[in-house]
Amino acid sequence: MSFSGKPPVKVKEAIVQDNVKEAEPSNSPDHIAIIMDGNGRWAQQQEKPRAFGHKAGVDALKKTIEYCAKHHVKFLTVFAFSSENWLRPAKEVDILMSLFMLALKQQSSKLHKNNIRLKVIGDCARFNSKLQAKIKDAEHLTAGNTGLTLVVAANYGGQWDIQQATQQLIEQAVKLKLPASELDLADFLSTRGIPDPDLFIRTGGEQRISNFLLWQLAYTELYFTETLWPSFGEAEMDEALKAYSSRQRRFGKVSEQITGENP
Ligand code: IPE
Ligand code: IPE
Ligand code: MG
Repeated sequence: MSFSGKPPVKVKEAIVQDNVKEAEPSNSPDHIAIIMDGNGRWAQQQEKPRAFGHKAGVDALKKTIEYCAKHHVKFLTVFAFSSENWLRPAKEVDILMSLFMLALKQQSSKLHKNNIRLKVIGDCARFNSKLQAKIKDAEHLTAGNTGLTLVVAANYGGQWDIQQATQQLIEQAVKLKLPASELDLADFLSTRGIPDPDLFIRTGGEQRISNFLLWQLAYTELYFTETLWPSFGEAEMDEALKAYSSRQRRFGKVSEQITGENP
């Protein structure tokens, strides 16, 4: 599987989408996607500045990565900074950028030692050149790892992703002299090669997608918790996985087709 360079061009073979996982009883998710929300409120509850919450958020992420690696989750995608988060006060944006840089500096070799592959999705061109270089270095260092894939969505927006994918798809179709309908949009999304999330978790109590993986969440099981991200630990993750295991994923079919019972 390759994450870099031009997307592989795959001509569609069937109308039925092949990016939807074959219906099977829910058990443990291969791919968990998380909106890590509530850092600011967590800090404010303790009468501390929001930056304190963002630092604690990085610690919660470290523990979540360890949990996923330990439980053989194959892909963990986390929303670290949305395309709309630039609208926050400049001071907070600066703090978030510094924390991202620091986390990359401090954690890249640890990720590598633990056989974890890092992939950053989003429009990285808006980051300063040092941060862009650090992202590339960390991705390059860990590219051959075969354990957990950690996908960090940074300056990411689901609408941006669909728009850039559409642009690339049209360019390829023109180049190959094919009708655009012969190509698969999923092959041009920033998540190409990564299966769609099985489980989506949003901490912090809001029940919205906030422009996260709009295309990829089509058949993902959604889980919302009031717990603020810095307080999200092993017990909360166990709870989310328990909820997931009780869901029946039908992908448009009827229940009996999934259980094998006669209707
Ligand atoms: C999530 O926590 C972190 C980022 C968006 C970067 P928030 O900063 O949104 O925290 P709340 O939602 O204000 O509590
Ligand atoms: C979503 O959280 C983005 C990240 C966690 C990075 P926000 O706090 O930005 O979302 P809204 O503004 O409440 O929808
Ligand atoms: Mg928030």
